[in-house]
Amino acid sequence: MRNKKPSIEMQAKLLRSAKTVMKNAHAPYSKFRVGAAVLLSNGKIVSGCNVENASYGMTNCAERTAIFSAVARLGPKIEIRAVSVVNDQGVPCSPCGACRQVIYEFGPDAIIFFQGSKGPKQAHITQLLPEGFRLQ
Ligand code: THU
Repeated sequence: MRNKKPSIEMQAKLLRSAKTVMKNAHAPYSKFRVGAAVLLSNGKIVSGCNVENASYGMTNCAERTAIFSAVARLGPKIEIRAVSVVNDQGVPCSPCGACRQVIYEFGPDAIIFFQGSKGPKQAHITQLLPEGFRLQ
């Protein structure tokens, strides 16, 4: 089950959405702004940024903000086709473990675009999260 990779044009659009929303990040503690945009199987794009908190553990990553916003807006039947993640420092940044599991919940066949150590990278969610958890 491998979904068709979004066109180059769609990848560029997804990247632009992630870059735009990154500017809304609330990151006064880490000073590391992150933006994420998810492409859904219905063609819609929903984006999110990281939202930090003085109680550091309450921080929400950009990826989860985007996914939770998509569910809030469109309901729980969303299917994630692709995710684009950017940061304002141009450093390697792949989704954290928690976000990988949340991506997997709604996108077990998703492709993730992110900054790797040797430049832009893409990976299937199961490469980032082998044996992702599912109930039933
Ligand atoms: N962060 C994200 O939003 N997404 C990632 O993929 C990695 C880390 C955020 C969380 C925190 O606000 C800051 O980056 C530093 O960890």
